[in-house]
Amino acid sequence: MASAALVPHGTRITICEVGPRDGFQSEKTFIPTRKKIEIANALFASGIRHMQVTSFVSPRAVPQMADAEAVLDGIDRPDGAWVTALVPNLRGAERAAGAGVDAVHTVLSASETHNRKNVNRSVDQSLDELDAVFDVLSRTNIAVEGGIATAFGCPFEGVVPPEQLARIARRYQDLGASSVSLGDTTGMATPLTVQAAIRAIRDAAPGLDIHLHFHNTRGVGLACVMTGLTEGVTHYDAAVGGLGGCPFAAGATGNICTEDLAYLLQESGYDTGVDLERVIEAAALTQDIIGRALPGQVLKAGPRLKRHDPDLTVTAAG
Ligand code: COA
Ligand code: ZN
Repeated sequence: MASAALVPHGTRITICEVGPRDGFQSEKTFIPTRKKIEIANALFASGIRHMQVTSFVSPRAVPQMADAEAVLDGIDRPDGAWVTALVPNLRGAERAAGAGVDAVHTVLSASETHNRKNVNRSVDQSLDELDAVFDVLSRTNIAVEGGIATAFGCPFEGVVPPEQLARIARRYQDLGASSVSLGDTTGMATPLTVQAAIRAIRDAAPGLDIHLHFHNTRGVGLACVMTGLTEGVTHYDAAVGGLGGCPFAAGATGNICTEDLAYLLQESGYDTGVDLERVIEAAALTQDIIGRALPGQVLKAGPRLKRHDPDLTVTAAG
């Protein structure tokens, strides 16, 4: 079994912002394209450099993502930006190939029922289509991040065995994926299942970079990040304000929150490259645009050492 090693303090941890994809896709009201671009640009201005900006999916399945090309065209990419988009099939890969992304994030689910709900195919049909997806992208400079949804449990089927993750990860590695991303679609991951999944993949596909994508549905998303760190993982997805959720998974709720994750990592001695105050500003902007309170907690409370004016707080005089 591959051995675990805590990520040393001071290491740069990649926060991949997925709010513009995972977050926006679950919003029922269409967010105007220029507002999507404004949020993405505010996040880049806060120091975020990895972002999943949109998805190339059927506009009938997910109308919110119908403006994928326009959003990618409109964003200001700072130096060092790494821009990705989610792709469910060959048609999506062909669209992505012409749209100026650095990487595509392929999506298939570890569980049969969610794969059918999400992309209208069996898992084996999705795996078969990967050949054509990689073939199209191999003629470009676009990297492929191999996504696995429902990696820590399926809302329709329950337990997902680590062997299934290992099988899919091995296939991704053989096809030439730059990484595999374990998606916790409905927040079913726990520290123990995260540890088991990482170890199974390291055994089956040694050297393949592992990314973790948690949802905070049961309140343990950041605890799972801590487990990822103890297992040596340095790449985590998160969504600004804690937006997020899959429309095709029962009970899906928000991703772990970008500014809460940045706070945790910085306070734990890691380098994120993100300016916490500015990412909180980006979350406040997102909250204004979405028009309802978002779940993020640092957005509400501010950084730990934020000073409050004693004159503005009542005194408990008897
Ligand atoms: N982008 C745009 N349009 C697409 C497309 C893509 N990637 N893939 C298929 N389409 C279009 C086809 O051109 C076809 O259009 P037409 O009827 O006008 O000819 C239509 O969608 C149906 O195509 P088909 O191949 O039969 O797809 P499907 O109905 O079996 O749906 C997916 C399969 C994958 C396209 C659809 O399930 C999907 O987009 N899923 C994504 C779900 C998602 O984003 N989930 C959240 C992320 S985890
Ligand atoms: Zn997700």
